Amino acid sequence: MYVCVCNAVTESHIHDAVERGVRRMRDLRDHLGVAADCGRCASCAHSCLKSAIGSQAASAPQAFPAAFSLMEAR
Ligand code: FES
Repeated sequence: MYVCVCNAVTESHIHDAVERGVRRMRDLRDHLGVAADCGRCASCAHSCLKSAIGSQAASAPQAFPAAFSLMEAR
């Protein structure tokens, strides 16, 4: 689905940007032009950005094994 019609930016583009490290609307605007023209996409783009960040965090591998915190507590 298109998020920003003015710049032909889709949800997929935003997910790809998040995978490359984008975390803020300012970064989306700088890299993809989102909300840089008419601005009507800003709210939808922000929701999509938060969703993409949440999806990435949920699928990211844990940095430490689950038992690590138990070992540190001893
Ligand atoms: S729809 Fe995104 S700037 Fe116009």
